[in-house]
Amino acid sequence: MKPDIDAIKNKINNSLVDTIKYYESVDSTNNVAMEMQDVQEGTVIIGGVQRKGRGRLNRNWHSPKNGLWFSIVLKPDKNKFDKMTVLTLIGALAVNEAIGNLNINTDLKWPNDILYKNKKVCGILSQFKSKGNKVDRVVVGIGINVNQKEFPKEISDTSISLRMIKGRKLNKDQLLADILNNFGFYYYEKFENNEINDIMDKWKSKMFMLHKVIKFSTSDNQSFKGEVVDITDKGELVVETDNGKVEKLIAGDVSIDKNSLSF
Ligand code: BTN
Repeated sequence: MKPDIDAIKNKINNSLVDTIKYYESVDSTNNVAMEMQDVQEGTVIIGGVQRKGRGRLNRNWHSPKNGLWFSIVLKPDKNKFDKMTVLTLIGALAVNEAIGNLNINTDLKWPNDILYKNKKVCGILSQFKSKGNKVDRVVVGIGINVNQKEFPKEISDTSISLRMIKGRKLNKDQLLADILNNFGFYYYEKFENNEINDIMDKWKSKMFMLHKVIKFSTSDNQSFKGEVVDITDKGELVVETDNGKVEKLIAGDVSIDKNSLSF
């Protein structure tokens, strides 16, 4: 069903969210947000379906009509561009809290997944665009499995929707308004005011990987194992490897084996 943009806007009480645009069918809301000319900070693009939804590491993101697929355009202060991963983490916190309002307890998996009993409910893909040697915008793309009743075979073991968890259909407009409120009013304001430690403390309190052993591989295919000990103010995951070396993992360069957590 088409979102009621006016009703969503009426529920939002922050100054970040500007225009909200809905497209019944898009290739990817991130693409639209990246390509839009003269775009303002706080523009939100919603897609009814995405024909080419994109996930991290060039994966496809299954985006049928009963999910919630949207992207937020941000124009953060230019001296914060080394902290762009933090924007992905903020997105996860904002979603996690909104899902919490439905009495569903989810876990955050660094850097961009929200899991329920180890199955994926939400994924986040952030991208940036440069103009010359300046960053022009950051796009935080959020995909939430809301009202799907089933998933294609390839992802049915690893995905779950909020409807499957609650046993009833959920109101996507309310969920979106809650997320945009959390994102803009609380977390992005903290980000812009340099209160990054507060954001990271919150993340650490929700991150089920903290003090667990993970296995990860870098983009040049090297594999490591180590204990997660911290998260930096740039959003990097700090891991102490078996041989005592401390590695800082950057979101784009590593993948964490989903079966690799030791408890
Ligand atoms: C991941 O877990 O790999 C990230 C998935 C991100 C999906 C969202 S849906 C809205 C936005 N548009 C896209 O094409 N991708 C993101």
